[in-house]
Amino acid sequence: MIAQAPQTTSLGERASSPENIDGFGRTISYLRISLTDRCNLRCLYCMPAEGMTFMHPSHYLRREELNTVLRVAVQMGIRKIRFTGGEPTLRPELVEIVRDTRSIEGVEEIALSTNAVLLDRKAAALKEAGVDRVNISLDTLRPDRFRQMTRLGNIEKVFAGIRAAWEVGMRPLKINTVVMRGQNDDEIGQLAALTQRYPIEVRFIEYMPIGVSYEAWRASFVPAAEILRACEQNGVLIHVPQERYSGPAERYQYMGAPGKIGVIHAVSTSFCGYCNRIRMTADGLFKPCLHSDHVFDVKEALRMRGEEGVRDVLRHVLRKKPLQHHMQVPEGALANTRYSRLNMSQMGG
Ligand code: GTP
Ligand code: 5AD
Ligand code: SF4
Repeated sequence: MIAQAPQTTSLGERASSPENIDGFGRTISYLRISLTDRCNLRCLYCMPAEGMTFMHPSHYLRREELNTVLRVAVQMGIRKIRFTGGEPTLRPELVEIVRDTRSIEGVEEIALSTNAVLLDRKAAALKEAGVDRVNISLDTLRPDRFRQMTRLGNIEKVFAGIRAAWEVGMRPLKINTVVMRGQNDDEIGQLAALTQRYPIEVRFIEYMPIGVSYEAWRASFVPAAEILRACEQNGVLIHVPQERYSGPAERYQYMGAPGKIGVIHAVSTSFCGYCNRIRMTADGLFKPCLHSDHVFDVKEALRMRGEEGVRDVLRHVLRKKPLQHHMQVPEGALANTRYSRLNMSQMGG
């Protein structure tokens, strides 16, 4: 059963104006922006090994244009902004973009979703420019497996990136682990045990069927209930109530542990009833939902009609935001997995 709105957002606030209420009464306060579709890794669940084509950087929304879009979005009620990719640290102007964003009155939180490969070098400048926190992808603790799951990566760089983010004060620090059967499902316990030693949040994410065949996805999918059972092998888990900024994850904690575990069960139980987000691609296509094929071109609207064009696009995006996605198993059963013409790296996860 999908809970229907109105409801509070994960920012814990009600709308200050009706401009950020969608067609189902949900308050939309969170904007995810993909800054580039490029990545320095090729994670198994995100991109094919070969044959990816990337947009030319000349198609990106320019820095000043991005700032205009963000200002209008914030005027309309957006409070939390997350920069994603591909890999957002590959965007040369990232620090400047963050700084511009920080100066917009009304922005309450700026976050990044990153693979952390370049974070060691960039964390201090990003924090200084205004990044509050980062969510870092890490699917395994084993160097050889990391190389296999990312097809390119060196895990030591990620560890250095995590340390750097911590040292510059990015909090809460979250680790994202997409669980895949036969790849890393045997490491759930070890990854969960990190929360018994460190004050971080390790989030296990159900593998979502985007850009793969139904068969390939089904063979690798591990449901949240199974992930939780594996975590329980380490000790009793206490459910942690939702709080400000806690997001779509169900959260748990081992007795006395400094860290928390999160489970993002986007497939087996939808959190669409509480959805508070919209997203935009690097070239300025707004998507009302990760799984919707509707896109709204803000770049064209901005170049033709300025801020008023942006406002109109945002109104449409909110009006067209669907009630829910259709990934649920078993009844949704994925007649096909082509929910979107864009793959995960183009939409920013
Ligand atoms: P917090 O603000 O820290 O809660 O982060 P987040 O979970 O919003 O962002 P993150 O980029 O870390 O995403 C974690 C996982 O949640 C990824 O697998 C995303 O694809 C998934 N996710 C994010 N937004 C949505 C959404 O709107 N729908 C679905 N189904 N999954 C989403
Ligand atoms: N299913 C679930 N999560 C995914 N991500 C990328 N592809 C998928 C997928 N198919 C996650 C990454 C990253 C976040 C932004 O999205 O692991 O942490
Ligand atoms: Fe790159 Fe993130 Fe996709 Fe991995 S999941 S290939 S790190 S965009």
